[in-house]
Amino acid sequence: MKNRFKEIKKHFEKEAKFFDSFFYKIVPQYRQMLEILVQSMPFEKNKKLKVIDLGCGTGNLGLKAKEYYPHAHLTCVDMSENMIKMAKTKFEKYPDTVFWHGDIRKFDYSKKYDAVISSMVLHHVEGAEKIKFYKKLHKALKTGGIFLNIDIFITKDAVLQKFYTDKWISFMSENGLALNKVKEMLLRHKKEDRPVVIDWELSALKKAGFKSSDIIFKNFNFAGYTAKK
Ligand SMILES: C[S@@+](CC[C@H](N)C(=O)[O-])C[C@H]1O[C@@H](n2cnc3c(N)ncnc32)[C@H](O)[C@@H]1O
Repeated sequence: MKNRFKEIKKHFEKEAKFFDSFFYKIVPQYRQMLEILVQSMPFEKNKKLKVIDLGCGTGNLGLKAKEYYPHAHLTCVDMSENMIKMAKTKFEKYPDTVFWHGDIRKFDYSKKYDAVISSMVLHHVEGAEKIKFYKKLHKALKTGGIFLNIDIFITKDAVLQKFYTDKWISFMSENGLALNKVKEMLLRHKKEDRPVVIDWELSALKKAGFKSSDIIFKNFNFAGYTAKK
């Protein structure tokens, strides 16, 4: 698809206002996944962490991070102006939060961070570009720093893949998404997203220089992992 990222941006600009009211109906255990990802951060509660939230959307993951790490300084990056607008209202109580509007691939990663966190974004970046991108994240982390990511994945096993997809469809339907909306979601996923097999992801992180990585949770096609510098 030509200009895949333009298409993705257009969708999120349009959906920003409603995002919080439907995303948890599309992603199984969305809120729990955000919570567990942040809980797995290995830092002391009062540490003054420097954290980037990549593709922050309306700010849900960043807010979770602030809940557990009140002294964390957050930089929230997103290419959708409307998503950032929504996030800014939620972060009014944290005026030191920095917002950067633009493509995560073009952000200046020259400063050092304790953690890079992201949820349901990086499946947009594909192949060799993703490894190059992970190298930038690795460089931006302090030694001992961590990268935490929640995303959608695929499996090489066709039977299992169908099982995961069926589970996903059931989840969306049971959560009130009309059949035409479910079909729309799956079509959009096929056109815009580039999910990988989780083994590929872990090997990409290794190639990018991460010392270790581990899958924190996996729920059919959704998973969260951590990688340490
Ligand atoms: C599915 S939403 C997830 C938002 C948030 N992380 C969450 O879990 O609630 C994906 C977000 O990533 C942003 N995004 C996707 N690709 C991006 C890119 N290349 N650069 C910056 N933002 C991007 C979209 O604008 C959107 O806000």
